[in-house]
Amino acid sequence: MWPLIAAFSLLSATIVQALPHTNSSHHPSTELKWRPCNLPFPKSLREQITVPIDCATLKVPLDYTKPKLGKTLGLQLVKVHATKEPRKGSVIFNPGGPSSSGVEEVVVKGPKYVETLGGQFDVIGFDPRGTGHTMPYICNTTAVQENKTEKKTRSTPASLPQENMWDILKSKAWHDGGLLATACHQTLKDTGHLYGTAFVARDMLRIVDALNEDGKLRFWGRSYSTALGQTFAAMFPDRVGRMLLDSVLLADDYYSGNWATSAAQTDASLDHFFTECIAAGPDLCPFANFTGPDTKPKDLSAALGKVYQELIDKPIVLPKNYPTTTLPWWQPGGISLLGQVKFSIFSALYQPSSFTTLMASISAALSREWDLWMKAGEAEPTSSSPEPAWNLQQHGFHGIACSDTKFRAKTPEDMYSLLQYQSSKGGFADGFMPQVWPCTQWKMDAAERYEGSWRNITTSFPIMLANSPFDPITPVASAFEVSAGFKDSRVVVHEGHGHGIMNHPSACTIQAIKEYFSDGKLPEHGTRCKPDKTGFEEGKVKPQWWEKLGV
Ligand SMILES: *[C@@H]1O[C@H](CO)[C@@H](O)[C@H](O)[C@H]1NC(C)=O
Ligand SMILES: *[C@@H]1O[C@H](CO)[C@@H](O)[C@H](O)[C@H]1NC(C)=O
Ligand SMILES: *[C@@H]1O[C@H](CO)[C@@H](O)[C@H](O)[C@H]1NC(C)=O
Ligand SMILES: *[C@@H]1O[C@H](CO)[C@@H](O)[C@H](O)[C@H]1NC(C)=O
Ligand SMILES: *[C@@H]1O[C@H](CO)[C@@H](O)[C@H](O)[C@H]1NC(C)=O
Repeated sequence: MWPLIAAFSLLSATIVQALPHTNSSHHPSTELKWRPCNLPFPKSLREQITVPIDCATLKVPLDYTKPKLGKTLGLQLVKVHATKEPRKGSVIFNPGGPSSSGVEEVVVKGPKYVETLGGQFDVIGFDPRGTGHTMPYICNTTAVQENKTEKKTRSTPASLPQENMWDILKSKAWHDGGLLATACHQTLKDTGHLYGTAFVARDMLRIVDALNEDGKLRFWGRSYSTALGQTFAAMFPDRVGRMLLDSVLLADDYYSGNWATSAAQTDASLDHFFTECIAAGPDLCPFANFTGPDTKPKDLSAALGKVYQELIDKPIVLPKNYPTTTLPWWQPGGISLLGQVKFSIFSALYQPSSFTTLMASISAALSREWDLWMKAGEAEPTSSSPEPAWNLQQHGFHGIACSDTKFRAKTPEDMYSLLQYQSSKGGFADGFMPQVWPCTQWKMDAAERYEGSWRNITTSFPIMLANSPFDPITPVASAFEVSAGFKDSRVVVHEGHGHGIMNHPSACTIQAIKEYFSDGKLPEHGTRCKPDKTGFEEGKVKPQWWEKLGV
């Protein structure tokens, strides 16, 4: 998903408009006609559906900045029913990305969320523009692909074991990112401005009106969808009924294009995993006694840091045919092993159910068995289903995030300070940040962006936030910062491992969520919730699991 074009900084002719953000008058209610779903879900998805799901389609304006054109978009809605009386309304759930499908997650996990919310709310899912079957963001990259002579990624020794991000940008990422930006512009130049978070916030307001309940949004957003939630709450503060921001992306950091918070807690997340690993013992974690029976997390970090440093001093470039499924915009060739090692550790820190993959990856790194490492990488779950997935987007992450972002660069030099800033945030910056760099060369702008303040916002009901101090990508500090901007909001520090509170559940967090939605009770200040099980129990890690790998 990421390709190139030198010295090109065409800005889309689309004018960024400022619509009145606080217009919260209700829209004429469109009757929603709910029926049992008949959507063309792939078999693998259908098999995971355990309860009857209802579907409806809601017509919303295609372009809120040009209402007179009268063009509409049909939003697909799915509903999982409340299980208890009296019913208390609907909660919209959205899973993030940007580019994840709300329909897909709700039809599978909706029943779990109904239960978590206390049983009295229906849970509604929808696909934000760019995802699922709703204007899926797909760029034709065929025309821009070209063969590129392989360049070795040069590196200079750094005090932190990080690759030199400037070298990655100059030798490859600027080129490849420009290709993606060009391909997307060629494919979507007429519609590219219709994506973006402000329009999705308006779509959600339409859903709220069409539900015809009390006119207030009840929302549970995870990850990027917390930026969607913040945007809605800032644009329509008097339309917030309940809002749970689960694993918080700082909206300001997202819209700026900095993404600097994304690597700010990854080292802490890895450190916490090492703590759990040592506590689990050598039967479950093969490096629990790496430096002897007294092994400490810092010994494991130091050992991994040494491996990183070796790969910086003597870079290994991956073979051209290496499957870069995690970085679909990279052109083949010139991809450094270290970047992939870090990216794979980064992604496997997302949930305890990936602990086995994480350990396989770290074990191979610690023993410098790079052939084995590549095998472990390939063993990561990929869709084996021949059917197309429900979520048709291929470039939705960039299509949405880049249109939302204002920062553009004419040359790699224009990005130098941004790279220094990202680099200063933590040891995983080189593993994550290249993903977002194509945005600086994006050629289309969202027709609307929220550009107001993130401070001193009083919502019609206070927001609840929940965040783990061991989340690899959305640090707990962001939850506190967002909370500081929204009056009377409260943060629950959820001490489970990973990204998303349901990945490592805690009865205490779930109780707080229930009381918030059902009774309108905010958690006490300073609430901290411990998970019910250790990460190794939650991830169902089996003793001696590595024997199966034939290691
Ligand atoms: C607010 O929205 C309503 C209904 O769409 C519209 O009639 C009204 O003109 C809008 N107000 C402003 C200030 O744009
Ligand atoms: C993508 O672009 C190539 C080259 O311009 C063209 O041959 C092909 O038909 C396009 N594919 C689609 C799906 O439009
Ligand atoms: C790119 O390289 C491949 C493999 O080396 C070759 O088959 C193909 O013709 C090349 N394409 C272009 C456009 O040079
Ligand atoms: C680590 O634990 C394993 C399994 O209990 C044991 O065989 C091995 O000797 C231990 N190594 C060290 C250095 O303590
Ligand atoms: C903060 O918001 C309140 C309520 O909207 C308003 O009365 C007050 O003037 C605002 N304070 C600042 C410093 O903007």
